[in-house]
Amino acid sequence: MALSRCLHDSEFYARVCQRVSHPHILDPHQDWTDAERYQRLRELEPYRETTPSTSRARTLVQPMLKVLWTGPRRILDIGCDDGSLLSALATHWKVERADGVDTRRTVIERASEAFPSMSFHCMDATASDAASLFAEVDTVILSMVLHHMTSDQREALRVRLRSAPRLRWVLLREHDCDSPQWRDFLEVVHGLYAIHEDHAFVDTYHAEFQTKEEWRQWASTLGTVVKTTDSNSPRIDSGRFINPTRSFCMLVNVTP
Ligand SMILES: C[S@@+](CC[C@H](N)C(=O)[O-])C[C@H]1O[C@@H](n2cnc3c(N)ncnc32)[C@H](O)[C@@H]1O
Repeated sequence: MALSRCLHDSEFYARVCQRVSHPHILDPHQDWTDAERYQRLRELEPYRETTPSTSRARTLVQPMLKVLWTGPRRILDIGCDDGSLLSALATHWKVERADGVDTRRTVIERASEAFPSMSFHCMDATASDAASLFAEVDTVILSMVLHHMTSDQREALRVRLRSAPRLRWVLLREHDCDSPQWRDFLEVVHGLYAIHEDHAFVDTYHAEFQTKEEWRQWASTLGTVVKTTDSNSPRIDSGRFINPTRSFCMLVNVTP
């Protein structure tokens, strides 16, 4: 759903406001441009860092390391964004080779500049020209990317992962959207990001949020789900959510 529709659909807006700590920021009747509203939203604690950065990556990888603390040698990060998550994981696991792939040229250029020892590729990981990226990898990272894929893309990815000859681990990190309100709320956050952070994201933007159980079902078609963290609890203050990410990590053993 486009942001403008989100914010001008009164029923939808009312539902979103029940879930955010500062609903006035989203008020469509305020005389702000979307960009101003977005900046204000970003100044609030829960939104301060919605894109990866080195310090944020160090925090983000902690639950990932809890489910897979050692072993990966050749890793592929799908939806790698600016590469900071991949860099944090690669250092910890002491990998031989780290590749990142993302559909957005801007973030791939940033990643290549920041982390010259790793390889970054601008392509759709589910497209046929990305097949060679899967030839040698033993570990694939899917951090907050599956919900941006269509069901056709997820199916293409599943087939590709199933046929990757050396693949052992798939490490998944996703939102646990176990209520319609969570879905609506994440749509707004994504919409704001899409409009004001990266215009390319607007053209390609797509999101299908699912519950942890639904993600588990998809993961089970790859292999055995061996570990899953609890979904981290949203922080609630005065009856409103102030931490929008309710996420979990899941480790799948793909070995036949
Ligand atoms: C929400 S961001 C997640 C970034 C990072 N992995 C993290 O966990 O913070 C999702 C990223 O996936 C990328 N993406 C979406 N679909 C993709 C696809 N089919 N192939 C490669 N990258 C994709 C987007 O461009 C975006 O950078």
